[in-house]
Order: sequence, then C-alpha cells, then structure tokens
Amino acid sequence: MTDSETSQDYLLTLDDVTKRYPMKTGGEKTILNNIDLRVRQGEFISVVGPSGCGKSTMLRMILGSEQPTTGSLLIDGKPVDGPSRERGIVFQKYSLFPHLTVLENIIFGLDLEEFSLIGRVVGYPRYRKRKREFAERAQAYLERMQLAEAGHKFPHELSGGMRQRVAIAQAAIMEPRILLMDEPFGALDDSTRQEMQLFMLELWEKTRMTIFFVTHDLEEALFIGSRILVLSQYYVSDTGVEGAKIVTDKEVPGGHPKPADYKYTAEFGELLGQIRRDGLDPEVRQHVKDFDLSHRDA
Ligand SMILES: Nc1ncnc2c1ncn2[C@@H]1O[C@H](COP(=O)(O)OP(=O)(O)OP(=O)(O)O)[C@@H](O)[C@H]1O
Ligand SMILES: [Mg+2]
Repeated sequence: MTDSETSQDYLLTLDDVTKRYPMKTGGEKTILNNIDLRVRQGEFISVVGPSGCGKSTMLRMILGSEQPTTGSLLIDGKPVDGPSRERGIVFQKYSLFPHLTVLENIIFGLDLEEFSLIGRVVGYPRYRKRKREFAERAQAYLERMQLAEAGHKFPHELSGGMRQRVAIAQAAIMEPRILLMDEPFGALDDSTRQEMQLFMLELWEKTRMTIFFVTHDLEEALFIGSRILVLSQYYVSDTGVEGAKIVTDKEVPGGHPKPADYKYTAEFGELLGQIRRDGLDPEVRQHVKDFDLSHRDA
C-alpha cells in the first residue's frame, strides 16, 4: 500500500489478523498468524495451501461467521460483524435443502429476500409473476451448467457433482459482491470441472464479483485466478512463530481470463513449480523474508 492509499480504496483489508482455536488438551493453537491482505473490488483470487493450513477458516472470517482472534478485518472500511446479503459462500461440502427441488433450492434466497410470508399472501399475483421470473433465471443457470433436466428433481436424486453445481447456482444467482468458494469443484469429473471453470470466468466477466476461490488443484488455481495467494504453515522465522502465513501473494501472469492453452506455456509450468515448492512441500521451508509477496497490494 502506498502512502496515498487508505483502507477506503480497498473492498477488503485484513491487518495483522490472527486466528487461534482452543485445544482439547488445554491452551490454544494458532492457525492463522498475522495475515495482511488488501483486496480491490472485482479481483478473482485463488487460494491454495496444505490441508489444515486455515483456508476455510479464512473464508469463514470474511463471511463473518467467525471473528479474528486479534487484528482487524474490514469491508468497505468497516468491521465485519456477521454474515450479510453481500457475501455468498459455496461450502466445501454441498449444502442443499433436501425437501426442496433443485429449482426451489436455487431460487430460495431470491424468494426469501423479496417476499415475506405476508407479502406472498397479500401480493399473490405479483408474487407468482416474480417467482416465475426467478424460475426462468434459475433454469438458465441449470442449462449453462448442463443440468437442464434437473430442475424438478430432489437433491437425493442427483450425483454429488450435480448437487455441487446446484449449490454453486444457488450462491451465484444472488450475485453477491463477494463470492467465497471453498473447493467448489472437488466432486466434479475432469471435463465437468473444466466446463465449470469457464462458467465461473464467464460469470465473473459479467458481474465483476470479487471472488475467493479455494482449491487443491494448483493448475486450476493458476488458470482461474487473476491473483494467487498461498497460505502455508511450512516456513521459518527468527522468532519461531507457529500458524500459517501468506507465503506467496502475486498476480498470475498471462492476463485474465486466460486462453485455455495457457496451461501449456513454460511460464505456467515455472509458476506451478515455484508454488508447489515454496508453499506445499513440507520439506522446503522458506524464511519469512524470502516470501514472494510481489503483488502490488501485498
Ligand atoms: N472450530 C474449530 N475449533 C478448533 N479447531 C478448528 C476449528 N475449525 C478449524 N479448526 C482447525 O483449524 C485448522 C485449519 O482448518 P481449516 O478447515 O481452515 O483448514 P483448510 O486449510 O481449509 O484445510 P482443508 O484443505 O483440509 O480443507 C485445522 O487444524 C482445524 O482442525
Ligand atoms: Mg478447508
């Protein structure tokens, strides 16, 4: 951050954020340690890191369902004190309402937002019309996600990958300002996964939502994001601190969105190797001063 920039220039700022959890055996464990991050509206940020490093924890704090133990987390310069309409999440494990059809699941949030129970009764004709519009929008999502026939099915009639796509449609149709996605494509086969990557990029171009995208697939992370964050507990410092830090924060070269063949360039291969080594390999421990924090906002 340069001197002339303040937290108002950013959509989201994390300053010295630390998260600790109590341990069963007593005491506390530091999961995230002194996280600093500045994010502008419209960024598409990929987050990778070893299992257990705190990626989901970081998303939950941005969502507002958990608070930092110390430090500040601001959105539009204000502390986040709970979940809100402007932040949506797709959880690591899909979460649909079992008693609602796919279409009803997708429009649930829109419906709830626009009509109270009384509004439904008093304004019934208007309610019916709006509901039809919502259903048409939801159907367009289903078609784009190769689920055109699934609208009237119930979640238990779908495969895991199909359910996961419905959960994505459910969050995306709300067009939140910040969309948090926690390993959203984990249950998908390879070709559906690539389709969904393109779908998310299309959606991002259309809406310019700010997206956090957690994945274990490094290739996916570098292809989908304009910026890559690597969280890792594998590093060394002079003070012997514990807990994951951002060990890499950089712009992904190659423009955004990238052409599909970017994955085959030498630049891509090199970056992949660097991140695998510096962030994910427990045998390689960089010193804090050697982290690649070359992003302009890092
Ligand atoms: N509510 C909680 N109470 C105590 N410990 C917790 C709690 N939630 C998470 N943890 C611990 O915090 C650490 C980070 O968990 P988190 O789920 O954020 O990791 P992650 O990076 O998302 O991992 P994965 O890649 O496996 O999803 C883990 O050691 C986990 O056991
Ligand atoms: Mg997780």
